Amino acid sequence: MLRDKILTALLTLYRRLQLALVTFVVTLAVSANSLFGRQRMSHENGIACAGHLRIVPDPRLPPHEFFQPGRTFGCRVRHGMASFKDDAKLVVRSASIKFADSRDKAPLDLLLNTGSLPLFWDARTFVGFMRVTMAGRGKYFTSHLRRYPQSWVGGGDSVRRDPDAFDRMVYHTQTVSGFVGEDGVYRYARYRLVPDPWDGTESGAPDTWDRDHPWLQNPYQDETRNRNYLKEATRAFLGRGGKLHYRLQIQLRDRPEDGANTQWLSSAVLWDQGRFPYLDLAEVELDRALSYEESMLTWFDLSRHPDSLPIPKASSIDDPHSLNHLRLAAIWATRARLLSYRLWGMPRAFSDSRQADDWQGIPPLRDPP
Ligand code: HEM
Repeated sequence: MLRDKILTALLTLYRRLQLALVTFVVTLAVSANSLFGRQRMSHENGIACAGHLRIVPDPRLPPHEFFQPGRTFGCRVRHGMASFKDDAKLVVRSASIKFADSRDKAPLDLLLNTGSLPLFWDARTFVGFMRVTMAGRGKYFTSHLRRYPQSWVGGGDSVRRDPDAFDRMVYHTQTVSGFVGEDGVYRYARYRLVPDPWDGTESGAPDTWDRDHPWLQNPYQDETRNRNYLKEATRAFLGRGGKLHYRLQIQLRDRPEDGANTQWLSSAVLWDQGRFPYLDLAEVELDRALSYEESMLTWFDLSRHPDSLPIPKASSIDDPHSLNHLRLAAIWATRARLLSYRLWGMPRAFSDSRQADDWQGIPPLRDPP
């Protein structure tokens, strides 16, 4: 009995030390990349827009001190593309929502990507993904995808090609966070941002070929859109008085009695929408595109949340919460990026041309379109 207890304690300690070590190494690597590369580790290509967000009543939502119906916030949404600087590539798109019209401070930041399934679902699979990304992506992805077929599914589910507008796509937090209602019950939550109104379709959704080959991300050979087409179209649309409309929704599920980690906490496992429907949380309206500089200086941090929307703690690199554990530590990468601007200046805006030296093709590709 005592022997078992000691073994369990040692195993727990080993797992926590392994998580701490992986977090340290990953944070160091991404921070160095952000500092010396003067770039976001991910989603460097993007545009921030501002407007407001209003919490809407949904009788099915347990009363919550932060999400009070009618409460209105100024807000910013940065739409990014991971990770190539080319809007016309087959890439994951994002919507990072700040519950304040501010570069940094806010009561809540939410980070969402297109696709309901991610390419990685814990720290272990994230490290594997990071390694192939550093190797050069493209053909280097294939060995990783063979090893983790779930990553293949997640890649195909998440990439979008040539969407018409940012508010015609659906974005998911993909990871699970906490929701403590006024009733004191701890629930788990997933969020998504959908077009408003939404007919259930998405602009830019991958066709069968793209879905099966999410690592072949280059633009079409005869692509006529330039590298910044979507950001420029958004800026022009808002400049003409247009508005982007979305609905923020939340999916809730009770935490198991014993608090144990269950399989459905994994980002790789979707929750049955019949049993756990997405509930309306807020209407989002954006009416202003921010400058390139302001977009670069707007940053998001998972640790910005009220106590009633906690980020669950992770206990090992295989724990689904380990993804958010890594992301919380990644604030050092953001700090490093912002420091790099102060040291060496703001990087210049991306060129429109695929012949420019900052354009990167998926290897091997000698003759970019
Ligand atoms: C499913 C999991 C994840 C999702 C949905 C996600 C989403 C995002 C999004 C939307 C952005 C763009 C933020 C912006 O617009 O500024 C971003 C950036 C970033 N992410 Fe993730 N991410 C995930 C996992 C991770 C992990 C595991 C790490 C670990 C290191 C990480 C590190 C970063 C970093 C360093 C940035 C750039 C931050 C900056 O320089 O401001 N992400 N992520």
